[in-house]
Amino acid sequence: MTLHRDVDPAVDPDDPARTGAVEPLETAAPAPPRSWDVATVGLPAPLAVVDLDAFDANAEDLVRRANGVPIRVASKSVRCRPLLRRALARPGFSGVMAYSVREASWLVDSGFEDVYVAYPSVDVLALSELALDGLAASQVTVTVDSLDHVRMLAALTRPHGLRVAVDVDSSLRVGPVHIGVRRSPVRSPEDAVAVARAASDAGLSVVGLMFYDAQIAGLPDTSPAVRFVKARSAASLVDRRRAVVRAVRDVADLEFVNGGGTGSVHLTALDPVVTEVAAGSGLYGPTLFDGYDAFSPRPAAAFALAVTRRPGPGFVTVSGGGYIASGPPGWERLPALFGGRDLRMVRREGAGEVQTPLQGKGARDLQIGDRAWFRHAKAGELCERFNALHLVSGTDLVETVPTYRGEGRNFG
Ligand SMILES: Cc1ncc(COP(=O)(O)O)c(C=O)c1O
Repeated sequence: MTLHRDVDPAVDPDDPARTGAVEPLETAAPAPPRSWDVATVGLPAPLAVVDLDAFDANAEDLVRRANGVPIRVASKSVRCRPLLRRALARPGFSGVMAYSVREASWLVDSGFEDVYVAYPSVDVLALSELALDGLAASQVTVTVDSLDHVRMLAALTRPHGLRVAVDVDSSLRVGPVHIGVRRSPVRSPEDAVAVARAASDAGLSVVGLMFYDAQIAGLPDTSPAVRFVKARSAASLVDRRRAVVRAVRDVADLEFVNGGGTGSVHLTALDPVVTEVAAGSGLYGPTLFDGYDAFSPRPAAAFALAVTRRPGPGFVTVSGGGYIASGPPGWERLPALFGGRDLRMVRREGAGEVQTPLQGKGARDLQIGDRAWFRHAKAGELCERFNALHLVSGTDLVETVPTYRGEGRNFG
């Protein structure tokens, strides 16, 4: 990953003025975020950009890592229909992994196909309406992980039924220790067969299985211990996944076996029982995906905040900024300053509700009205803060497109 560094002749050892190298200014393309400043000049901040060159390069890299296995794009990590379409227009991507039944119905209404809602829903109205809508019901698959889900769905959707997939817990267990997320209670082949069989008997079509390995896909390689746990987890998941898939295939006509996420695409795709992988975050390249050994997405999504005041020497304050990512709380969930400016957030304030103070030598170079660029810690959550994304390529503003939020849609 290349991060832009501010060129300050006083401190930059590579600066032509110090090294004597002659740099032809007219051919030196400004690096992000300078180029984004040019592309969005005159637009009011806060504003968010997606760099299409970086987005496309990230998509290409995901396809490379998936090694021929189709990628179902995780919509929660994109939250923008035009960019979902852009990913899906690319060979190697197929189908959407959605996070809400209402979202799935809305996507199908606007032409998306094969939408899998990967989290169980108890939205009674949305599920009943989906079952009554033949076209939508043929394109949408919902998640079950228990007999409770099966009973509820069967009661709501009778006599039409729905397409369902079983979520299989993919965490690592070492004795009593659980490493991974707390989601599905389905773990063994017997568990999965029991849910699949009950679903079929209740008039639901069991078309898929899903294995999301959060402790591999969502964990950066920060230490040898983490690498060890991830490797061990991947090895044990391969065996269990194979056994579950084989057992469920005996009782259901599976169309897909989904696995992985941005952080594990390259591993999951190696398993022949997996028919597709899921990925979304790798398209935007947020900061939580900076620390992986096997890949380095380019920062494609970012936002700019405007300097509105100077509290004192060494400080500037920007408007906005408190866009904290979900997950276990910590500094790594805050937006990160991007662009090499020597600035940091103030520990006692962090990223604020309406304004964010910044401190450091870089404050010297910033005037009121100037911008500072940031990256969000996670991918799609950025779109909950902005109605629009400015799509840029080099120094050009290509198009401005709405986020889900900008289309008046919020799916939780
Ligand atoms: C079920 C499921 N699959 C895949 C993913 C991976 O998504 P991403 O590639 O955006 O990390 C997630 C992320 O949380 C998930 O919940």
